Amino acid sequence: MGNLRDNPGALLCVVGARPNYMKMAPLLRAFRSRADLPPAVLVHTGQHYDPMLNGRLFDDLALPRPDINLEVGSGTHAVQTAEVMRRFEPVVDAHRPSCVVVVGDVNSTLACSLVAVKKAVPVAHVEAGLRSFDRAMPEEINRVLTDQLSDLLYTTERTAHDNLAREGIPAERMHFAGNVMIDSLLFHKDRAVPAAQTLACAGKAGFGAERYGVVTLHRPSNVDEPEALRASLGILREVSERLPLVCALHPRTVARIEAFGFADLLQAGRIALLPPQGYLEMLGLMADATLVLTDSGGIQEETTALSVPCLTLRENTERPITVEQGTNTLVGRDRALIMRLVEEIVATGGKRGRTPELWDGRAAERIAGHLAGWLAARPVPLHA
Ligand code: UD1
Repeated sequence: MGNLRDNPGALLCVVGARPNYMKMAPLLRAFRSRADLPPAVLVHTGQHYDPMLNGRLFDDLALPRPDINLEVGSGTHAVQTAEVMRRFEPVVDAHRPSCVVVVGDVNSTLACSLVAVKKAVPVAHVEAGLRSFDRAMPEEINRVLTDQLSDLLYTTERTAHDNLAREGIPAERMHFAGNVMIDSLLFHKDRAVPAAQTLACAGKAGFGAERYGVVTLHRPSNVDEPEALRASLGILREVSERLPLVCALHPRTVARIEAFGFADLLQAGRIALLPPQGYLEMLGLMADATLVLTDSGGIQEETTALSVPCLTLRENTERPITVEQGTNTLVGRDRALIMRLVEEIVATGGKRGRTPELWDGRAAERIAGHLAGWLAARPVPLHA
């Protein structure tokens, strides 16, 4: 009986939405640099299709164009997940992969894992074990289920192992690898576009000369209901009276602002509204910022790595290490708390934090090495 070294099915590497690209770029580089791994095939589900959420980031991250694009587009969660599954299944049949590699917690992550596992193809989940314990977040459902389906769970922080153990996942499946998103950040940091240049290009040159805060906002809990969105925008307006704000708005948020007729709430002189930014522009904006206000998952980690204070407009985080060791503070929509922290950060620079263990730029390398060893030790899979 041979093994995978005699019959290497491809590694199918899946991306679907913006936060996946910065995680997959270093992985793909690491996979393709090793002769002892099967060829890595990049599959894009097409969950994100907007040029500003998509193609531009591929260029910035030096992520090769996808080998396969499933072009699923937007839809309800059920429709989007089902459509990814329907279109991914023939790809798995055609490639007979040795492993499907998924990252993060978007709908595409879960959909492709589910297809793979039912075809007896092993699943490797990168960024496993994070938990917000908030089942109202679609990402939390995707995390819990993807981890249950995965054979290999690569984690970014040690608390993830406790979460996985609590859910009955055997320790031998878990591997503390570090943070591939920070691999990307460290790899590209020197090429970040200076904030002043980005702001000048956006016709907001005045902002570059001052201290400023950066804002991103797109979570359903902050933008989908009129009252939540009104409160979030009210907070931004109040903060902007103390510190000018640069807001890079997700299309989802723009659509809600228009639908609810809230555009006038942001017509303050000290708020610059920008479209979604490229990776290198965003990196430059964050690196030079006095603080960042966000509800993103990845930005909580990036600000910790950049040592820039981050106020997270959520009640919980699946990335507790950013609060315990990094620069992150959870603030929900608590206006008084936010204003107090903004004052403090403007006056003293705020929380500086320290870099968490293994956020050293080499996580993808470790994962590639481990995966090569694991595949080599595996017998021929059932479907081969
Ligand atoms: C998705 C992820 C979220 C991640 C975010 C980053 C899930 C459940 N959510 O949320 O974890 O933080 O990406 O951006 O997978 N839209 C466009 N252009 C696009 C894609 C979407 O305009 O290219 C608009 C559409 O109106 C769409 C809405 O954004 O209906 C939501 O898109 P969707 O992919 O469902 O989720 P995101 O909110 O982007």
